[in-house]
Amino acid sequence: MNIIKNYSLKAYNTFGIDALAKEFIEVKTTDELISVLNLPSEWPLFLLGGGSNMLLTKNLGNRVVFLNLKGIKQINENDNYIWLKAMAGENWHDFVSYTIEQNLGGLENLSLIPGHVGTAPIQNIGAYGVEIKDTFESCEAVHLNSMEIKSFSHADCQFGYRESVFKNQFKNQYAIISVTFKLKKEPHILYTSYGSIGEELAENNIQNPTIKDVSQAVIKIRQSKLPDPKVLGNSGSFFKNPVILKTDFEDLQNKFPQMPHYIVNENEVKVPAGWLIEQTGLKGFRQGDAGVHEKQALVLVNYGQATGAEILSLSKYVQKKVKEKFNINIEAEVNIF
Ligand code: EPU
Repeated sequence: MNIIKNYSLKAYNTFGIDALAKEFIEVKTTDELISVLNLPSEWPLFLLGGGSNMLLTKNLGNRVVFLNLKGIKQINENDNYIWLKAMAGENWHDFVSYTIEQNLGGLENLSLIPGHVGTAPIQNIGAYGVEIKDTFESCEAVHLNSMEIKSFSHADCQFGYRESVFKNQFKNQYAIISVTFKLKKEPHILYTSYGSIGEELAENNIQNPTIKDVSQAVIKIRQSKLPDPKVLGNSGSFFKNPVILKTDFEDLQNKFPQMPHYIVNENEVKVPAGWLIEQTGLKGFRQGDAGVHEKQALVLVNYGQATGAEILSLSKYVQKKVKEKFNINIEAEVNIF
């Protein structure tokens, strides 16, 4: 195992921020990970996956361990389902594509999300009406101090909207090494009612869509709204969609009758932060190389040379403008370091 000193993380975060790690180590197996955890270190440990949900605002005084464990294995099967175990370092979209090639349903709506399999459960990634929790069976994780390998069931993970136990009670305590999914054989159950998936399928005259058709529709919609991190640095949605009290929502709705919303429960309503930001006039706004994406205001972008601090400062400005106009606090979804 190679320890590289003062290593640039530019290629390891989708914002493309040029921050340095005091030490960088890539691990490809569970044994390598455990050996690294056993090595004494001057610097605190920092686990790195796909780097698609983080903003680096400074150099990291850490030993960065890049979890690059690979492999996909079928571990169980019955008449209706196949269980696949994917190692943490598998690229998320490549894994989704693999499941579609195998004609296994459940992940098609989650096509083209950047990142790695191992970090996906941490924030319960979701898109177009589906979340990872819908196909998640279990995951295995190494405890960073005891080095014991523990299996987490669905219930153990306490999934919520962009939430899990790994962001809360067990934050910074475990390295997820693999995730097992329960995927459906034919006949597939498709979720095509959310957003523009139905419209996209109709436009292409597809009446009986396959999981591949749904995946293609999702890819097309995402490509039309969301910037490709390889072309324009970004971390997907920078903010979470805020959940507000129904009573506050009703007051706002009198002032802004067009406000899109989703009912969460009888007391709470979720409103799209992208809409709120657009209403403040900030869609397409730019401060140097840090910008609010021109097609989806929920996404902040790096036009090239922005520093993490500049993107953070833009995010604070966006939060301030939304607060002034709607009296709503929007919270960052990405992890800020
Ligand atoms: N909207 C605007 N202006 C904008 C953006 C959105 O008015 O600039 C409006 C849309 O017209 C629509 C509503 O806001 O009425 C919702 O927009 P959209 O369907 O694009 O979804 P979102 O709520 O902005 C969420 C996820 C995305 C996910 C999409 C699709 C969060 C924080 N974001 O965005 O996830 O792809 O739904 O399911 O929940 C991510 O987490 O990185 C991500 C991209």
